[in-house]
Amino acid sequence: MSSDSGFAVRGKEEAYFYSSEEFKAQANLTDEGIFERFKYENFPDYYAEFSELLSWYKPYSKIFDGSDAPCWKWYVDGKLNACYNCVDRHLAELKNKTAIHFVPELEEEQTQHITYQELWVRVNELAALLRDTAGLKKGDRVALHMPMCAELPITMLACARLGLIHNVVFGGFSSSACADRIVDSGSRVLITIDAYYRGGRLLPHKKVDDESCELAEKSGQKVDHVLVWQRYPGTISAGATLTEGRDIVINEELKKYYGVRVEPEEMDSNDPLFLMYTSGTTGKPKGAVHGTGGYLSYVTAMTKYILDLHPEDVYWCTADIGWITGHSFTVYGPLALGGSSVIYEGVPTYPDAGRSWRIAQDLDVNIFHTAPTAIRALRKVGPDEPQKYDFHFKHMTTVGEPIEPEVWRWYESVVGRGKAVICDTYWQTETGGFLCSTVPALQPMKPGSAGPGVPGIHPGIFDEEGNMLEPGCGKAGNVCIRNPWPGCMQVVWGNRERFVNDYYGMYSRLDSKDWHDWLYLTGDAGSMSKDGYVRIHGRIDDVINVSGHRLGTKEIESAALTVEGVAEAAVVAVANEIKGKEPEIYVSLKPGFESSEEFVQKIADAITREIGKIAKCRNVWIVPDMPKTRSGKIMRRVLAAISGKSDVGNVMTLANPEIVETIQNIVK
Ligand code: WTA
Repeated sequence: MSSDSGFAVRGKEEAYFYSSEEFKAQANLTDEGIFERFKYENFPDYYAEFSELLSWYKPYSKIFDGSDAPCWKWYVDGKLNACYNCVDRHLAELKNKTAIHFVPELEEEQTQHITYQELWVRVNELAALLRDTAGLKKGDRVALHMPMCAELPITMLACARLGLIHNVVFGGFSSSACADRIVDSGSRVLITIDAYYRGGRLLPHKKVDDESCELAEKSGQKVDHVLVWQRYPGTISAGATLTEGRDIVINEELKKYYGVRVEPEEMDSNDPLFLMYTSGTTGKPKGAVHGTGGYLSYVTAMTKYILDLHPEDVYWCTADIGWITGHSFTVYGPLALGGSSVIYEGVPTYPDAGRSWRIAQDLDVNIFHTAPTAIRALRKVGPDEPQKYDFHFKHMTTVGEPIEPEVWRWYESVVGRGKAVICDTYWQTETGGFLCSTVPALQPMKPGSAGPGVPGIHPGIFDEEGNMLEPGCGKAGNVCIRNPWPGCMQVVWGNRERFVNDYYGMYSRLDSKDWHDWLYLTGDAGSMSKDGYVRIHGRIDDVINVSGHRLGTKEIESAALTVEGVAEAAVVAVANEIKGKEPEIYVSLKPGFESSEEFVQKIADAITREIGKIAKCRNVWIVPDMPKTRSGKIMRRVLAAISGKSDVGNVMTLANPEIVETIQNIVK
């Protein structure tokens, strides 16, 4: 347990910061009555308000159905389409307004401003192509392995229009990680792009997916069609090759669909909208299934009330769309509200430290949403850079990991110029939208603390025995949510048992049909102060938060174990100034294998191959044996202490205490 806890934010209580009168005067949510209406006793009725933000073909007959606990149903019998809500319904008033600003990484290339009208046309034509060329129909899963480009949300929305369940795989994931997701979701169509820019280089991407298909087929899932976008329409970039009969160039094929329109599919509120795979305690990533009506209502409400998005705002969320933040808060939430969402292709500090701020200045971005890791990196490369540009944020978000109060203050004073409100939003892939954050015009901010549960969410900190800790008691425990909410995942794709065990197994009465008996376990340790503000200390399971990305230690260990000669592998988290945490791996070898530089390289390569560069370990240590308990369990805690050069504690109870010093000498 406890691979990732021990964050700096554990320190003293910080003082409140208040939002400006100017911000309050224009805010979407200024009604104090929200807290009374959204109190625990009023569940589930208060969630009617969120559904009213959407357009429904048919209204729901019941807000909440808990009879299949804990697979909650939301807005039962309601019918809607997510694409209609994000595109069609804005045409009457906003057709000429920018929906997506796509900023290519190369500054000599022009930003594309896609209006709602153009988005509607492109989504319709693509939906027709998906239906006719690839034969896709409602309920089919489609894998999208794409980087940051305008075509990614266009493809997601075309899927949603047809009722296809999209499964976006982060563009930086390797072919092997992509194949796992294709196989688990049973996707027979893969959508990709030939190439994209990152760090000034045009990276070949399509060939990664040729491999993904090969690997998926070996594991029993044939990919019938690979649909390929072109980074430069009309040209195949970076030497991508096509497989006859399987691959279709979308930009070419689309010509046949000029002017074709496709009616949005009337989806049931509880039909799945998409899958998003995430890491957990065991080796295999799990597919969080997000529903249509509940998810979309929830993210739309969060975007309106917490991110304070108005249609006239220019909103930039820097998260990759391949993660949940990009799904909820670059695509679905902002577009459902008729917002203008910025998508940037490349590295925030390319070609120099001022790039992000130039984007903000040029597009007049006024809502900025990013992760502490990006804030730390921007501060490090150019602490004075923001002042050189003319941009004015009214609102800034931070998400994905705890933010150190010192970094928070730089963000507030230098990036926000002391005028922007900050929301530290705490949530997860599984939760669809925010769990904790301050309501920007109503609740003061506190650096390093995510804030109370957002309206409707009732968090509690629980000890190992299942007692709820008193707010302000100064003790940390397991962060739980005491009530269901519409944005929560419906189930783990194909594995209800894992869903129930992982999220509810610890504290719930598994035979109960009453939602009061089900406590959602976040997997984070945290504490709550007297004012109800929640501070997250870190994961209690085998998950490492690297640059705000979730990596399972077991996934990295499994990758190392694919190398011939590796007997055992153990991953620990070490602190990193920019990334927050970073994995480091210990490996022991089978008899007959010798440690060498080549061997270390082989293990490093295997990790990149199986997962991707994001899982790169700081060090690969080959050790004669692992520190173990008498029952043979690897003591990761001891390895973590060795990596962190901290006190290893009492090791005399180990089966092999002498190994500790040997390893310390290797790691020196
Ligand atoms: C961590 C990202 C502290 C937490 C939206 C959680 C945070 C995991 C915060 C989910 C925050 C997320 N403060 N920690 N504001 N936001 N986390 O699924 O450990 O990629 O469980 O979702 O990130 O990561 P995921």
